[in-house]
Amino acid sequence: MIFFDNISKIYNHSSVALKNVTLRIKPKEFISLVGSSGAGKTTLLKLLIREEEPSDGRIFLDGLEVTAVPKENLHHLRRRIGTVFQDYKLLPLKTAFENVAFAMEASGRRDDEIQEDVPQVLSLVGLGDKINNFPHQLSGGEKQRVAIARALVNRPDVILADEPTGNLDPINTWEIIKLLQKINELGTIVVLATHDKEIINAIDKRVIVLDNGAIISDKEKGKYLV
Ligand SMILES: Nc1ncnc2c1ncn2[C@@H]1O[C@H](COP(=O)(O)OP(=O)(O)OP(=O)(O)O)[C@@H](O)[C@H]1O
Ligand SMILES: [Mg+2]
Repeated sequence: MIFFDNISKIYNHSSVALKNVTLRIKPKEFISLVGSSGAGKTTLLKLLIREEEPSDGRIFLDGLEVTAVPKENLHHLRRRIGTVFQDYKLLPLKTAFENVAFAMEASGRRDDEIQEDVPQVLSLVGLGDKINNFPHQLSGGEKQRVAIARALVNRPDVILADEPTGNLDPINTWEIIKLLQKINELGTIVVLATHDKEIINAIDKRVIVLDNGAIISDKEKGKYLV
C-alpha cells in the first residue's frame, strides 16, 4: 500500500536526515514511528505528502509513484493523505465547521456535500455540539479533534499524525489516541510519530524505530525500547 523504496534525504547537500530507508506499510495498519529528536520521523512524513523531495529512492502509494507526481497534480495526492500536527494548525478566524469545510472547498467539493459531511465528521470526533466554536473557544484536546476532523473529511487512505498529543495533558492524550485507533479500525492507515513511551506500549501495534535516519527496529506489537 505504502512503499518507501530505498529512500535517502540529505538537506542542503550536508544534513543527512534519512539514509536507505525501505519500509512497507500494509492496508489498515497502525504504525508508530519513534526515535530521538532529529532521527528523521517528520522528514519521512513530509516525503509522503511531497512537502520534501527525496535525494534518492522512490515512494509509492498503492500504484501511484508519489515521487513522480507532477507538481500540478499534487492536490490529488494530498487529498488521499490527511495530516495532523502537534500545533493543530487551525485557522483562528474560522469556526470548527469552517475549518473543516475549508479542507473540502480546497479540494473542490460541492457546497451540498460540505453541508452534509462537515457536521457528520465533527460528530464522529465528538464535537457535534461545538461546530460553531472558534479555536480560542476550544480546549487543546478539542482543537486537535477539529484538526483530525479536517484530516478525515476528504476520506483519505492514510492519516499522518506528527506528535499529535505533544501539547496535550494525559487525559486528552488518551482521547486523541483512542480516536486515532477508532479511525484506524474504520480502515484508514494511521502513521503516528511520537516520543511518548506510554502511548506506544499501550497501542500494542507495529513500532518502527528510526535512529540517525535509519530504521534500526521494526516490530509487530512493539514496545518502546530506545
Ligand atoms: N528543512 C531542513 N533543512 C535542513 N535540515 C533539516 C531540515 N528539516 C530537518 N532537517 C534535519 O534533518 C534531520 C531529521 O529531522 P526531522 O525533523 O525529520 O527529525 P524528527 O525525528 O522529526 O525530530 P523531532 O522528534 O525533533 O521532531 C535533523 O538532523 C534535522 O536537523
Ligand atoms: Mg519531528
